[in-house]
Parts: sequence; C-alpha cells; structure tokens
Amino acid sequence: MRNWSTAINESVADALEKNDRKRVELIVQRYGAAETITLRVFNNKGQLLATSNPQQDGQVTNWLVVTGIHAALEKREAQGVAKGVLSNDDRLFIAQPIVRDGQLLGALRMSITLQQFQRQFAIVIWTVLGTLVFTVLLCTFISEWLARSLSRPIQTMKNFAIRLGSGHFGDKLQIRQSNELDQLAIELNRMSERLASLDQERRAFLANVSHELRTPISNVLVTVEALRNGAVADPGVSDRFLKNVEDESKRLSRLIDDLLNLGRLEAGVVLLEKQNIHLPGLIGRAVRAMETRMQNSQISAQVNVAELQIQGDSERLLQAFINLLDNAIKHSAANSQIFIAGYREGKQAVITIRDQGQGIKDSDLPRIFEQFYTGDRSRKGRGVGLGLAIAKRIIEAHGGSITVSTKVGHGSTFTIYLPI
Ligand SMILES: Nc1ncnc2c1ncn2[C@@H]1O[C@H](COP(=O)(O)OP(=O)(O)OP(=O)(O)O)[C@@H](O)[C@H]1O
Ligand SMILES: [Mg+2]
Repeated sequence: MRNWSTAINESVADALEKNDRKRVELIVQRYGAAETITLRVFNNKGQLLATSNPQQDGQVTNWLVVTGIHAALEKREAQGVAKGVLSNDDRLFIAQPIVRDGQLLGALRMSITLQQFQRQFAIVIWTVLGTLVFTVLLCTFISEWLARSLSRPIQTMKNFAIRLGSGHFGDKLQIRQSNELDQLAIELNRMSERLASLDQERRAFLANVSHELRTPISNVLVTVEALRNGAVADPGVSDRFLKNVEDESKRLSRLIDDLLNLGRLEAGVVLLEKQNIHLPGLIGRAVRAMETRMQNSQISAQVNVAELQIQGDSERLLQAFINLLDNAIKHSAANSQIFIAGYREGKQAVITIRDQGQGIKDSDLPRIFEQFYTGDRSRKGRGVGLGLAIAKRIIEAHGGSITVSTKVGHGSTFTIYLPI
C-alpha cells in the first residue's frame, strides 16, 4: 500500500507543481476507481482537492480531524487502522505529505477497507493451509508407500525365519530387490540350505548309529539263544559261540567309544591337553600298540621319523595314528610292508603312512573321511567307518590337515600335516 501511494504521490506532486488540477483529478479517479479503495488529495492547508468518493466527501467540513491528515501536513507520514471517514467500518490507511524541493504541496491519503484485506488474507491463509494439508497428505501417502515397500520383504523374511525356526529347512526365499535386503535374503537362503544339509546329515547319522548298534546286539542275542537251546552241550560249538559273543561285545564297546569321541570332538567339548610331544616316541607307541595285529598278518613296519617336537594332545594324536595304522593293516596283503615317515617341512611336521594294500577306488576317495563311510561292506572284519572321521577331526582340532593319495592295486599314502 505504501509503495503504491508513494508512486501515486510522485505523479500528483508533478501535477501540483504545474498547478494542473485536472490531472490531479484524473489520477485520483484512475487509482481510486476500485470500490474498496478511497484516494484523496489535499492542498497544504488541508482542503480537499480531489477524491475518489465525491458523493460522501462533500459532507465533510473539517478534514484536519481525519486520522493522518494532520501529521501529513506536518510532513510526517502516518499509517495504521482507522474507522472510515463517514462509514463505520475498519480501514487500513496511509497519509503522506506531498513534497517537492522541501516545500509542502499538499497531502495524500489512501485507505482500503480492512474487510477486503481480511478477505485477501483469508484467501492466502486458506491457500497456505490447503497446501499444508495437501503436503501432509502427500507425505503420509509417500511414507506409507515407502514403508510398505520396505516392510513387505521384511515381513516375508520374518515369516521365512519363523518357518526355518519351526524346522522347515531348505525352503527358498524369493526377493528381487537390488539392495541390502537382497543380500539378507541370499544369506537366509544360504542358511536354510546349510540347515537342510545339516539336518540331512543328522538323520543319516542317527540311522547309521542305530543300524550299527543293532547288528552286534542282535548277533549276541541270537548266539545266546542258540547256546541256551543246547549249543552249550557241544564244547567246540559253545567255544565258537562264546568267542562270537565276546567279539561282538568288543565291537560294540569300541563303537560306543568311537561315537562318544566323535560326539565330543564334534561338539568342541574336548579340551586338548596340549603338551610337548616327542614325535618319534608317539609314533613308536602307536606302532607298538599294533604290533600283535601286524605279526598276525605277517606285516612289518618301516619307521623313519625325524627328531621333532610338536605341541598337542598325545592321547588323541595316538588314537588318530592308530586308526590310520589299523586301516593300513586291514587293507594290506600278508607279507607286505607299511612305511611310516616323519619329517619337517617349514613350520610343519609331516607324517606319512604308506601301505602296499589294494588302494582306494576313485568312487570311494571323496567320501572316506565321512562318518560311517566304508568302502567295501562285504569285507571280513569290516569296521563301521568312523576311524578316518575321528582321525581327521583330531588332526583338525590341532590346526593340522590330512590328505590321501592312492593307486588301486598299489597302496595308499595318508599324509598328516601338524603345526610345530
Ligand atoms: N589304507 C587304506 N587302504 C585302502 N582303503 C582304505 C584305507 N584306509 C581307509 N580305506 C577306506 O576308507 C574307508 C573308511 O575308513 P575308516 O577308517 O573311516 O573306516 P573303517 O576302517 O571301515 O572302519 P573303522 O575304522 O571305524 O573300524 C574304509 O572302509 C576303506 O574302504
Ligand atoms: Mg578304519
């Protein structure tokens, strides 16, 4: 309003300077044409020169009492809210002195109904409010949509995890999003696969255990029954039967020991009693333990182990070596030899156990370290397939590794690496 009236003020000042009353009238009519605006120009005595509202203004005799005029005639600008000159409505007004070269030419007063102003204000407020509400709604909508698109896969994953938790292993999660959620889904799928295979292993293990336990027990039961039914009478037969019972019981006892060992190794419960071990001494013990077996099968052992000290649990390592020697003897023909060597290679002790037996078939090779895997089930004196599984776990618990190389018909070499 102020900018507006200042602009008009300039034009009016020009006209007044030239004493052009017609032009002043014209300006006032033009800019005060709107119903809501009243524009008035006074001379420097406070007498009305021109007004945009001539009908009403004719009734006013003293303009000096109208708010702002007095100030303007004292070369001060006044503005604010005041009652209309003749009406009773609130109006916003501005009164300015018309000055040229420091000389007061007159005064200009412009007023506008507050109602109009308020109406415009209301429009602005409603527009702002409307925009605000619209923005809030839009934001809500967008965030809802975002949250949904984020939470849907999370929900899916949650359900998937619940299914996994309730034992549905091996299911697959389908989530196609190239972000972290995708990674998570991949990891969950991997976990599911792993759990499925562990579950599979566990079932197979249980089946194997029960099968292996049942066989010797039913053998014992059958034999005892035969003894009771009269076989005792014949000393030759009863001896054979009792021997059979003894063998099966030993087998059972060994199997249970093996299972317990394996279980402990698997669960990581076994605390290795680490001590300094004199490697040739340990291997000597293992060979001595198998001496009778070797003599019975006319097998000899060639031992060549360097003076090496390693750190480890001697009883467990002894068991690992015995398991390997047991295999070597079992698969060797009579009158053959077993070579045992031990030497240092960098920071490792390497122990090789080589036999001249029948070797391992290619089809068996990848599986021999598995629990309960045995190559030829029909062989006499067969084991249950735990020997290598136990040996491997013991060696791995020592931070070492075991490998095998073999040639069918020529023999096998098991190589053990142990950190020094
Ligand atoms: N030195 C070897 N020569 C030929 N085959 C072998 C040799 N060592 C292991 N194998 C094969 O690997 C399989 C697994 O061996 P592992 O020692 O685990 O079981 P096992 O000897 O059959 O039974 P266990 O040791 O429990 O009495 C054997 O059944 C055999 O087929
Ligand atoms: Mg074995």
